Amino acid sequence: MPKPSTTKWTRKHLLGLEDLSAAEITTILDAADKCFPYAMGRKAAPQTLKGRTVLNLFCEDSTRTRTSFTLAAERLGARVIQFHAATSSLSKRESLLDTARNVEAMGLEAIVIRHPERGAPQQVAEAVRCAVLNAGDDAHEHPTQALLDFLAMRHHFGRLDRLTVAVVGDVRHSRVARSNLYGLKKLGSRLVFVGPPVFLEGIDDIRVPVETTTDFDAVLPRCDAVMMLRVQFERHEGIVFDADDYIRGYQLTPRRLARAKPGAIVLHPGPVNRGIELPDDVTDGLQSAILHQVTCGVAVRMAALNLCIGAVDRERKAAKKPARKGF
Ligand code: NCD
Repeated sequence: MPKPSTTKWTRKHLLGLEDLSAAEITTILDAADKCFPYAMGRKAAPQTLKGRTVLNLFCEDSTRTRTSFTLAAERLGARVIQFHAATSSLSKRESLLDTARNVEAMGLEAIVIRHPERGAPQQVAEAVRCAVLNAGDDAHEHPTQALLDFLAMRHHFGRLDRLTVAVVGDVRHSRVARSNLYGLKKLGSRLVFVGPPVFLEGIDDIRVPVETTTDFDAVLPRCDAVMMLRVQFERHEGIVFDADDYIRGYQLTPRRLARAKPGAIVLHPGPVNRGIELPDDVTDGLQSAILHQVTCGVAVRMAALNLCIGAVDRERKAAKKPARKGF
């Protein structure tokens, strides 16, 4: 096992991995490992968030991330309020920031936000005093998804350095790809973006160097892990996509997987387009870590909520201290 991090967590917000240091990432993963035995809910977790309230402010669809944040908060004893954008006053054009300030005024410790605009979680964080956790903003960042990917990889390989990870498919529209890139580079691993030219274009927002290739078969023999991305059809306005071509070049078939390093694992953030990125026998096969990723997600979100709400508590406590007399 890697050395545990001794870095103390001081941030109220978890907005992206681009801003975090390797030590901070390791601190969250170590905390997530401590939460892991409680993630499935079969053993009662210490009620560290009893009496606290978390708001899930999701302005985009979600199954795994919303459920996983909800379970994470509830397992720690918090109450969770589900905000549904379509039936809220956002539909009456109340701004996101007014919405966030108003719900905070009812007494919240954390807002978990998913939003179709890049930077929306950052803006909310600047407008409120509670913790803000980014659950995905446009094709920008999805920090807890990358952290759960790292935890699943650390469980399998016992380390997160000197690994080669291929991130395959619709890189252009993927916040998962970006957060993985920022994090894995800091941890000392190598990441390769793989896909057809149309999915490797439009990634100039990424400010760190990254290897890219259209040749999936050539890259596989170097890979410890193959992370397949969902083809994000809902973001494909103006893009011509030929499913047969894509499947021929980029589906991870059992034959392709056999070319990866022995012991390589298959990751996918979900939801899987079965038959496009992955066939059933690989999705459900022995090398698939996909369901383990989902369990890791609850542990990572328990850790992230504990750490960020802990920072809110320290700030509130410091604000209550009487000012020192004198100069
Ligand atoms: C990802 C997302 O929403 O960005 N999924 C997830 O959070 N589990 C990836 C995707 O939707 O393809």
